[in-house]
Amino acid sequence: MTTDNQYDVLIIGSGAAGLSLALHLDRHLKIAVISKRELKETNTYYAQGGISVVLDEEDSVASHVKDTLNAGVGLCDEEIVQLVVEHGPMNIDWLLKGGVNFTRDDTSSSSSGYHLTREGGHSHRRVIHAADATGKEVETTLQAQVLAQSNIDVFEHHIAIDLITSERSQIKQQKRCYGAYILDHKNNQVETFRARFVVLATGGASKVYQYTSNPDVSTGDGIAMAWRAGCRVANMEFIQFHPTCLYHPEAKSFLISEAVRGEGGQLKLPDGSRFMHRFDEREELAPRDIVARAIDHEMKRIGADCLYLDISHKSADFIHEHFPTIHQRCLDFGIDITRQPIPVVPAAHYTCGGVVADEQARTDIAGLYVIGESAYSGLHGANRMASNSLLECLVFANLAAQDIHLLDAETPEPPKLTPWDESRVTEPDEEVVVSHNWDELRHFMWDYVGIVRSNKRLMRACRRIDLLRREIVEYYSNFRVTIDLLELRNLVDVADMIIRSAQSRRESRGLHYTIDFPYLDNRVQKKATILIPDNYFPY
Ligand code: FAD
Ligand code: SIN
Repeated sequence: MTTDNQYDVLIIGSGAAGLSLALHLDRHLKIAVISKRELKETNTYYAQGGISVVLDEEDSVASHVKDTLNAGVGLCDEEIVQLVVEHGPMNIDWLLKGGVNFTRDDTSSSSSGYHLTREGGHSHRRVIHAADATGKEVETTLQAQVLAQSNIDVFEHHIAIDLITSERSQIKQQKRCYGAYILDHKNNQVETFRARFVVLATGGASKVYQYTSNPDVSTGDGIAMAWRAGCRVANMEFIQFHPTCLYHPEAKSFLISEAVRGEGGQLKLPDGSRFMHRFDEREELAPRDIVARAIDHEMKRIGADCLYLDISHKSADFIHEHFPTIHQRCLDFGIDITRQPIPVVPAAHYTCGGVVADEQARTDIAGLYVIGESAYSGLHGANRMASNSLLECLVFANLAAQDIHLLDAETPEPPKLTPWDESRVTEPDEEVVVSHNWDELRHFMWDYVGIVRSNKRLMRACRRIDLLRREIVEYYSNFRVTIDLLELRNLVDVADMIIRSAQSRRESRGLHYTIDFPYLDNRVQKKATILIPDNYFPY
C-alpha cells in the first residue's frame, strides 16, 4: 500500500539549509521536511568553528570577498561571492533573533559584542561561533522553531529515493518536478510525496571516502537524485579534505576545528618540530587544501600514521573556554589537550561541487531548488574557505524562500502521480553484496581519488566504478529497496561524477591535485567542470 502526501513545499533535508528555508516560508504554505535519520543527524549539528560574517568594524565586505576568491583559486563566481557576503549580517541577525546564542565578547577589542575567531584563508577575525559547538546551537534552535510551527510536518527516518518529474514532451516546455518517492525505512513502505515546489537540502557526499569528518547521512543523495532527473552537476573534483581529524582507533569522524589553529595551535611532526613554514608563508592558517596536502606529504615522507596539533602552550583556562567540546572528547580518548599534542590526520570533509543552481537556488528543472552543501552555487570555486558553508546555507535558504513566494500564485498543483511499483521485486537475498560494495567503494576512492591523484589511479577507480555500477543496477532492479542499497546507489553515482570530473581537469587547482599535471593552467582551465546528463533538456 502507498500513501499520497500532498504539500506546497517538500524540503528534503533537515540541516541549516532545509530548516532555515522551512522557517522563512510563509505560514500559509503547507510544508514537509524529510530527514533520513533523526531530525538533528546532519552535518550542521557537528559544525564546530562557526559562521563567517563581516561584523567587526575593521573588517569589510571587500576583504571577505577577496579572501573567498583567493581560496577558490580563480573558480568562484564573483557576483555570487559578493551576494553571499553582503547577505551575511542580516542572516546572522535572523539567527540571533531566533534565539541562537553565539559566544559573546564584551571587551573593548570587539566592536560587534561577539567573539570572532580566525580560520584558514581569512585575513580578519570574522567567524562568529558558539564556543566549539556552533552547529549544535544552530541546529537545535532551528529545530525547536520548526517543531513548533503547525504548517510544517516533519518526517524522520524517511529517505527520498528519486524525484518525480514531467516528461518534457508532456508540457512542451521546461521539465517540472512534481514530488518524490520516499521510503519510510522504519515501516518499509514507499510513499509518494506530491508538491508544487521541491527543495533538495541533502548535504554533501563525503561518505564516499573511507575516512571522513562527516556523519553517516552524507551520501550525496540529492546530487545523485538531481543528476538522474536531468540536472547538471558541477565541480565534483573539488572535494575538501579537512587537515585535522582526531587520529584514534575508536574515534569515528571527530573533527579538531580549524579554530584551534586560528587561536594559535601549531602543527608538528612526531619529533615536535613545526613544518608548515616550508609549505606556505601563512603557515597553519594557509587555506585547507595547502595544509591538508602538506600533512599528507609529511606523513608519506616520514612514514607516519598521523601528525600532531599542539595548543598546550595556551593556558588551560583558555582551552576550556574556547574548546570545551574538543577538550572533553579528546579526554574521553585519554588525550589531555591542555598538556599533550593531539594526533591528527586529514579526512574528507566537504563537497565543493554539486547541483548547478542559479542565484535564486533554482535548478535546471522547474519547481526544483537546491540549497546548502548539495548545491553548486559558484561560491566556493576550487576550494571552500572555512566557515563559508553555513553562511551559504542561510543565504540561499532565504533567497529560495523569496523565489517560492514570487512563484506561489502562478504554480498549479501537480497532477496525480503513478504510485511506486514493487510488483516485480522480491526481498533482498544477499545483503552482503551491498555491505561489501560499500566498503570497496570507499576504500578505492580514498586510495585512488584522494588528496593526491594521478591519471593511472583515476583510470583504476574508473574501471572499478563500472563494475560496481552494473552490480548495483541489477540488485536495485530485482530487490526491494533498503536504506543501505539506496545510499550505495547514490554513492556510486557521485563517485563516478568525482572521477570523471577529476579526469577532465588536466591541471592542479585548489583541492584537485594530480602528479600528472602539477601546475595551474589558466589558459585552458579557468572554468568550472560541468557534467551534463543524457536526459538534460536546456530551455
Ligand atoms: P546537512 O546539515 O548535512 O543536512 C543534510 C540533511 O539531508 C540531513 O537532514 C539528512 O538526513 C538529509 N538527507 C540526505 N539525504 C537524504 C535523503 N535521500 N532523504 C531524506 N533526507 C536526506 N561549515 C561551516 O560553515 N562552519 C563550520 O564550523 C563547519 N564545521 C564543520 C564540522 C564538521 C565536523 C562537518 C562535518 C562539517 C562542518 N562544516 C562547517 C560544513 C557544514 O557543516 C555543512 O556544509 C553544512 O552544515 C551543510 O548543511 P546542509 O543543510 O546543506 O546539509
Ligand atoms: C572547522 O571548525 O574546522 C570546520 C570549519 C568548516 O568546515 O568550515
